[in-house]
Amino acid sequence: MGPMDNPHRTITTPIYYVNGRPHIGHVYTTTICDVWSRFERLLGRDVFFLTGTDEHGQKVEQSAEAQGVSPQELADQNTAEFRRVMGLFDLTNDEFIRTTDPRHEKQVQALVQRLMDSGDVYLGTFEGWYDAGQEEYYTETKAREVEYASPISGKPLDRATEENYYFKLSAFQDRLEQLFASQPDFVRPEARRNEVLGRLRDGLQDVPISRTNFSWGIGVPGVPEHVIYVWIDALFNYITALGLGDPESDWYAARHQYWPATIQVTGKEILWFHAVIWPALLMALGLPLPTCVYAHSFWISEGQKMSKSLGNFIDLEKLDGYIATYGRDALRYFLASQGPLGATDSDFSRLQFHETYTTDLVNTLGNCSSRTSAMIGKYCEGRCPTDTGTCAGGGVEWASFTAKQVEESIAAMEQFDLAASIGAAMAIVHRVDAFINDTAPFKLAKDPDQAETVGNILYRCAEAVRIAACLLEAVIPRAIGQLREAWELGPASGDLTEECRWGQFQPGAAIAKVALFPRVDAPAATEA
Ligand code: MSP
Repeated sequence: MGPMDNPHRTITTPIYYVNGRPHIGHVYTTTICDVWSRFERLLGRDVFFLTGTDEHGQKVEQSAEAQGVSPQELADQNTAEFRRVMGLFDLTNDEFIRTTDPRHEKQVQALVQRLMDSGDVYLGTFEGWYDAGQEEYYTETKAREVEYASPISGKPLDRATEENYYFKLSAFQDRLEQLFASQPDFVRPEARRNEVLGRLRDGLQDVPISRTNFSWGIGVPGVPEHVIYVWIDALFNYITALGLGDPESDWYAARHQYWPATIQVTGKEILWFHAVIWPALLMALGLPLPTCVYAHSFWISEGQKMSKSLGNFIDLEKLDGYIATYGRDALRYFLASQGPLGATDSDFSRLQFHETYTTDLVNTLGNCSSRTSAMIGKYCEGRCPTDTGTCAGGGVEWASFTAKQVEESIAAMEQFDLAASIGAAMAIVHRVDAFINDTAPFKLAKDPDQAETVGNILYRCAEAVRIAACLLEAVIPRAIGQLREAWELGPASGDLTEECRWGQFQPGAAIAKVALFPRVDAPAATEA
């Protein structure tokens, strides 16, 4: 993704509202970005991975009031919770931006000032509808379409008439159409792109970007009674974190090279902001556009949409429970391999989780690495054997087979197809399992004349598992760290492609027995 000669890679998550507590949706978006970031770093790329919290707006002001605390206190409390989550899921973000950070606030004002100076922001009167829950404005046409109720919360929309500052989105119609035509991968997946195109064809209207009925936000420069619309404030985080709104800043000096972003990941419900309003803002500011905006779908819970009233939210407590039983890597593996990256939603079900864990991690990767190391322990004195070339049966051209899988796994990850990348690595492990069954080194070992052949077979098994492990490290860093230690593999080299080249396992290296993924009892049928 992106020009291959650009050494920098930047990935962003949406910044999360602080008026609620973190749940599976937030954890998911951030985890998949983390997997991609780690993988790119393993490839030797210079990565900037950005996430953070969206702390202004009416909702936060109202929640704070209801709880009898100041909006800043509420924001501080909840942002701390989001940061705790980063620790729980082994996330390696390079910055955690908060929109209440004065460095962000200052830049947002400067950016809005630039838009006012260029005439892209002007003072006008808004008449239409407002979804207070989503902090989103609707024109009459759009409000009619959703039957005057929020498509997210179902609550009635409020009538809104007020003097506001507007962003001249309508002026970008042609340029946006051209963007979509010339960069077909700008919005992915394709089904989502088509939805955006459909809405774009209806014609764009200017967007009010200031509010006067509450005060928890960043003031419009020179007009403090107008607060900058929270979505504009929030979208700017992607460039303020890199200092682009303040060329004198430390952030600019250290990070400006990370723009434009390689991939900006969002959920499908907030795609319009990212696919249309955001590029238009960047065009107005004369800044380059991200290479790709990727909108994932939703997790549902045990077959049903997650909702407060059904009480089936996969919240932090539930996720903590999964971690306690299966481990952090297992959760990361499930999210990355089974998640809703395509156009359809995915079901987070306890049984499915258990099955994925048992099939892929316990029975495949765990079993294969433990089998291989146990046989090496038994037949090769726990040392990596030498491959002398002769090998009974199996019929696998290991060097070319693994090279093909490695290429596929890397290409898929570059396309943000996490499941395919994982699948290509796991196919290596499956092949090792079949190879062990076909060649039966445990039988050959009974005949001392076959010692060399046994060594050759086991070398191939260990080497293939090593390569698969390198490819899976971004997804399950803890387990692969354990394997690296037990098999004396040393730390990742920072050149994944080279590391995955066949034949690098050093004969003589100590190979200790590993048990990477303990078996877990199946959940009771009643446990959801
Ligand atoms: N603050 C805005 C984003 C501003 S970005 C400039 C916001 N925040 S949010 O707290 O609601 O988080 C949205 C993120 O959570 C999105 O990535 C969204 O897709 C994700 N999810 C929320 N519920 C989800 C599921 N049930 N499943 C998967 N992800 C979903 O919107």
